[in-house]
Amino acid sequence: MLNLSRSIENKLRAALEKLYPELAESSENGEISLDPQVVQASKPEFGDFQVNVAMALAKPLKKSPREIAMEIVKELEKDKSFFSFCKTPVIAGPGFINLTIREDCLATEIRNRIGDSRLGIPLVEGKESKDQSTSVVLDFSSPNIAKEMHVGHLRSTIIGDSLARTLEFRGYRVLRLNHVGDWGTQFGMLITYLKKVAPDSLHMAKAFDLGDLVKFYREAKQCFDSDDEFQTASREEVVKLQSGEQSSIKAWKLLCEQSRIEFQNIYDRLDIRIQERGESFYNPYLQEVVDDLDSLGLLVSDEGAKCVFLDGVIGKNGKALPLIVQKSDGGFNYATTDLAAIRYRFTCASKGDCASRVIYVTDAGQANHFAGVFQVAQRAGWVPLGGRLEHVPFGLVQGEDGKKLKTRSGETVRLRDLLDEAVARAEMDLRKRLKEEGRQEDESFIKKVTTTIGLAAVKYADLSQNRITNYQFSFDKMLSLQGNTAPYLLYALVRIAGIARKGGDLDTRMDQLRFTEPQEWNLVRGLLKLDSVIVDVEEELLPNRLCAYLFELSQLFNRFYDQVPILKAEAPDRSSRLALCRLTADTLRLGLGLLGIPTLERM
Ligand code: ARG
Repeated sequence: MLNLSRSIENKLRAALEKLYPELAESSENGEISLDPQVVQASKPEFGDFQVNVAMALAKPLKKSPREIAMEIVKELEKDKSFFSFCKTPVIAGPGFINLTIREDCLATEIRNRIGDSRLGIPLVEGKESKDQSTSVVLDFSSPNIAKEMHVGHLRSTIIGDSLARTLEFRGYRVLRLNHVGDWGTQFGMLITYLKKVAPDSLHMAKAFDLGDLVKFYREAKQCFDSDDEFQTASREEVVKLQSGEQSSIKAWKLLCEQSRIEFQNIYDRLDIRIQERGESFYNPYLQEVVDDLDSLGLLVSDEGAKCVFLDGVIGKNGKALPLIVQKSDGGFNYATTDLAAIRYRFTCASKGDCASRVIYVTDAGQANHFAGVFQVAQRAGWVPLGGRLEHVPFGLVQGEDGKKLKTRSGETVRLRDLLDEAVARAEMDLRKRLKEEGRQEDESFIKKVTTTIGLAAVKYADLSQNRITNYQFSFDKMLSLQGNTAPYLLYALVRIAGIARKGGDLDTRMDQLRFTEPQEWNLVRGLLKLDSVIVDVEEELLPNRLCAYLFELSQLFNRFYDQVPILKAEAPDRSSRLALCRLTADTLRLGLGLLGIPTLERM
C-alpha cells in the first residue's frame, strides 16, 4: 500500500500547508517538521493508517492536539478525491487521526497485483547503468584463507545474500564482494612452516584439503610464538610475498586455492553468488592511503606506528584512541586495507566501483573497527556527498545452552557438518511423517524435499532473528512445522499447491473480485503490505522484518484456509478466494526468494 500511503501523505501535506502557512515557512528552514507522520495502524480496529502530526504541532500552534486533528480532518474532507480511496477519518485518543482505506480500493489494488511479476513493488528511480546513485557494494561472507569458515561467516553469508537479493530486486546494481582474508603475516608464517614440513605442497595443487591447512596453520602459529628464528624467517617471507617474488606468490596462490574449494562448496550448497576480491587486491593502494593521510595532516607517529587519532573515541586512559594504519615494522594492517577498499569502492574512475552505498556484514565485534575506519575515511574526504557507509552488525551464534556453538566433543562446528546435520534431521522428520500418514514417496522426492527444508531451516532461523541479538542455534526449533520457521512457511505454499491440484484454477485473471468475510479482508490487507516491508528492509537492512511479515501472512492465510470454504464456494466467491490463494502463493514465493529460500509444491 505504498502508493496509498504516499497519496495520503501528499493530501495531508497539502492540508497542513493550507491550514498553517506560518509553519510551512519555518518548516522550510528546518525549524519545525510538517511531516504528516503517517504510520501503519497499530491494531486492525484502528483502520489502516494512523496520522500522528497533531501531537507534534500542539506546541508550536499552542492548541490542543485534538483541536488540531479536527482542523486537519475538516480540511481533508474538503477534498473530494480523498474519499475515492479513504473512508471518513476518525479522531482517537489525544489526537490521532485513524484512516481506513475503502474496500473497493483495496480490491482494485489486489486486482492490479495479480499476474504482476513485481507484485506492485516499484523499481528504484535512476536505474540507468550510468547512474551511480543506484550502485551498492555489499561486502559479506569474507572468510579467511587457511582458516575454517565458521558460523559467524555463515551468518554473514546468509544475511548478506538476502540483503543483496532484496536490493537487486529493487533495481540496484549490487556488487557482491567477498573480502577474504588472503594477505598478511599469517602467510609468511604458513609458507615458512610448509617449507619445513611439506615442501611439496607449495608447488603442487591439491596436496591437501582445508582441514590439513587449518592444522598446519595452528602448528605454524605455535612455532611463530615460541621460536625467534622462525619468526624472523616468517617476516622475511612476508616481505618476499609482498614484493611479488615468484615462488612465494605461487605458494600463496596454491594455499588460497585450497581454501577456495572449501568455501565454494558451502556457497554452492546455499546458492550464494559472490565475487572474490580479497584483501590482497588492495595491496597496491596501501602506501597511497598512508601518504594521503599524511599529506592531509591527519597522521601522527605514536611509538613508531603511524596512526590517526579518532575524534570522540576515548580509551581507558582518557585519551583519544588511535586507528593504526602502519605498524612500527612498516607493515600495513586490516584497517589500512579497509581504508584503501573504501576509497576504491567510492571512486568513479577506471580503478573504482563508483558506489553510492557500501555495506559491510560482519559480527558486532567489529563495530569499533568500522566506526574508526569510517570516521577516518570521512575526514580524509574519501566518502562522496550522499555516499553511505554502513556496518550491518550481527550477534553471536550460540548453542542451546547459551554458550558458544560447539560439537559434542567440544570442537568448533564445521559448516559442512552443520548443513549435513540439518538435512539429515529434516530427512528423519519427513520419513516419520510419511510413515504416520501412510504415504509412499520415492527417494528422489525425499532427497529434494529434505535438502530444501534442511537448508531453508538454517537460513530462515538466522534471518528471522533480529540480527543484532545473539541467537541460539536449535535444529529442533528451526525444523519444526509450528512457529516462525521455514517449514511453516513452506507448508502454507504446499497447501495452496494442493488447492490447485484439487481443481482450483489459480491462473485465470480475475476481473470480478468480491470479498465478504473478515478472514478475506485480513488476508487482503496483509497481502498489500508487502511493498512497504520491502522498502523498510532496503532502508534498515533488517531481513527479520521480511520474515515477520511472511510469517504473519502465512498465519492470515491459514486462518482463511481453515475457516472459509474455497473450492466449495460458489461464484464469484470461489474465484475471488482462488485469487487470494494465488496472490498469497506469489507473495510467499517472492518473499522467500528474497531470503534465498526455494519453495516446494509438496512436502
Ligand atoms: N575476514 C574478516 C573476518 O573473518 C571479515 C572481513 C569483513 N570485511 C571487511 N571489509 N573488513 O572477520
